[in-house]
Amino acid sequence: MYEQISHALLNEILTAIKPEILKQRNMRYFYTRLGANFYSIYSLFHHLYGERSDFKAQMQRLVEVMARQYIARPSALKKQDLERETDHAWFLSQKWAGMALYSDGFADNLKGLKTKLSYLQDLGINMLHVMPILDCPPGKSDGGYAVRDFRKVDARIGTLADVKSLSSAMRQRDMLLTLDVVLNHTSDEHEWAKKARQGDPYYQDFYYVFEDRTIPDLYEESMPDVFPENAPGNFTWDEDMQKWVMTVFNHYQWDLNYKNPTVFIEMLDIILFWANHGADILRLDAVAFLWKKIGTRCQNEREAHLVLQLLKDCCQVTAPGVLFIAEAIVAPTEVTKYFGEDAVVAKECEIAYNATFMALLWDTVATKNAKLLHQGLKSLPNKLERATWLNYIRCHDDIGLGFADEDIVKAGYNPREHRKFLLDYFTGQFDDSPARGKPFAVNKKTGDARIAGTLASLVGLESAIDSGDEKGIDDSIKRILLLHSLILSFGGIPLLYYGDEIGTLNDYSYENDEYKRSDSRWIHRPTIDWSKAELRTQPGTVEFRIFTALKKMIAVRKEIDAFADFNGREMIDVDNPHLLVFSQLDQQVSSKVIVVANFDANEQPMNIDVLQHLGLPQIYAIKDLYTGKEPEIIDDQLVIPAYGFYWLTGEQI
Ligand code: GLC
Ligand code: GLC
Repeated sequence: MYEQISHALLNEILTAIKPEILKQRNMRYFYTRLGANFYSIYSLFHHLYGERSDFKAQMQRLVEVMARQYIARPSALKKQDLERETDHAWFLSQKWAGMALYSDGFADNLKGLKTKLSYLQDLGINMLHVMPILDCPPGKSDGGYAVRDFRKVDARIGTLADVKSLSSAMRQRDMLLTLDVVLNHTSDEHEWAKKARQGDPYYQDFYYVFEDRTIPDLYEESMPDVFPENAPGNFTWDEDMQKWVMTVFNHYQWDLNYKNPTVFIEMLDIILFWANHGADILRLDAVAFLWKKIGTRCQNEREAHLVLQLLKDCCQVTAPGVLFIAEAIVAPTEVTKYFGEDAVVAKECEIAYNATFMALLWDTVATKNAKLLHQGLKSLPNKLERATWLNYIRCHDDIGLGFADEDIVKAGYNPREHRKFLLDYFTGQFDDSPARGKPFAVNKKTGDARIAGTLASLVGLESAIDSGDEKGIDDSIKRILLLHSLILSFGGIPLLYYGDEIGTLNDYSYENDEYKRSDSRWIHRPTIDWSKAELRTQPGTVEFRIFTALKKMIAVRKEIDAFADFNGREMIDVDNPHLLVFSQLDQQVSSKVIVVANFDANEQPMNIDVLQHLGLPQIYAIKDLYTGKEPEIIDDQLVIPAYGFYWLTGEQI
């Protein structure tokens, strides 16, 4: 878009641009993209930093950072950017299936991970989120999210060269690489924090630093505690600096101050650095927290969205093929905002964690019915067209019961009591539950808590194995598969969690580690036992049963065009509360697939009238795409097996 004020500024910037940038050849794509996005970049940057006397100088630096990183961008990646521009909905395809893993827990290190790519490919995984790989102080790492150096790989995990070699190996196999950028904070041992400590005001301005408690106390009035047990409060007194610093997460994680444009530009540079090191997708951590304002919860602030829009606009100039994932584990009405308000002029992240769906799935495990899930999904706001969900059951974090109170009420429960029931159910306080979870982040003030534990242990596999209960083992496996059938059919990128494909149980060894003991999330960050993983090839074993079924499910998903995420999902109301039913439209041929899931321990009937939603003429044969068979129908009722699911289509006969 052409607009005089911004264009005049762009001309000024280009006139003053450093000669080493100016003399570069092959900058055509850079300049056309810069021109196309400049009005938007200028407007956002002006909105955030326009009051400052150094505004123009900061804009100049911003453009130079984009230009330098464009020059540094490897030509293979530039070529890929162009391809993705012409096939811009590429990531909405159902061909993608992801997994999140710690490279050390999965395979010792990055080199090891490279040797395990064929295992992942065998399962059907073609997108990897390699959990944080950067240098963190040992013992004060928050699992990799307290970064000491944003450009240095943790020596125990590997080197930059290893990342390069992993990313090119993955590219050869058509696998996507996702890496983290921890935007919200740094370790207190990061160079910037160290300099701030030494009293340098330039670096103190990188963080929220205060002389006394006056301002921190004002903030605290409305800020919740993220880690109430381990790190209560949102500020930490720093002895060296003799000042308070904002630390929303752990006391050693200092929140970055995005009110300072230098911070924004530094972090953009880091994003582009990793884009240039072969990341196809960048997971932007804790984005809801990016902007702090007294009198608010300091989450989901409008400026946090503007920061993300600006990051996206800038990234599109230098590395337009790279996607962002928003890690915003926030209320359902807030999450969709992280896609942005408009796919062109106010875009943020193309992908977002579907935390609502995840939490609702856990509700079905405890209640054995789909009432709240159905209600919650119906309330999920619409999202932009060129945006998609990351659908997951487990990840490295806790399970927060972050669905809406209104939905709990509509489903017929009392919100307080229902949340308490769920917590009790998963953390061993409820007699009738086979789940073996641990509470995480118990808040004594509010009574809130979240849940830790592996998928297998939370659905009852661990307790069933311990008591030699074959039926319990069977049921747990069915539940593991049922939950996966939903993240694979919902629309979006399914993100499996490493170890779940072979039924990995809780790892209690963290209890003996002084640094991990107080953070129960370590219970579900396993080290894979590869001798156990080998059992996936032995029929009859738990590992075999889960792995082979998931492998088939992923392969079948990839064949079902209706599972691509073009917002074609429609929730279907049915009488039976144990069932979740929705249809997915294949836009190309306007045929539908109906997904049916039964959360109950007994088989359940569903009236065949529901099949009208396939939109087919009267005479047709029904087929479940997963088994390839016709489902059982008795007296006009479809029979859905206990903890079973169907992906139904109809064929005219
Ligand atoms: C994100 C990460 C989590 C971490 C937090 C603070 O939520 O997923 O593991 O503790 O950010 O960095
Ligand atoms: C994240 C989420 C929270 C999560 C935490 C890390 O930002 O808001 O749900 O538990 O950080 O565990």
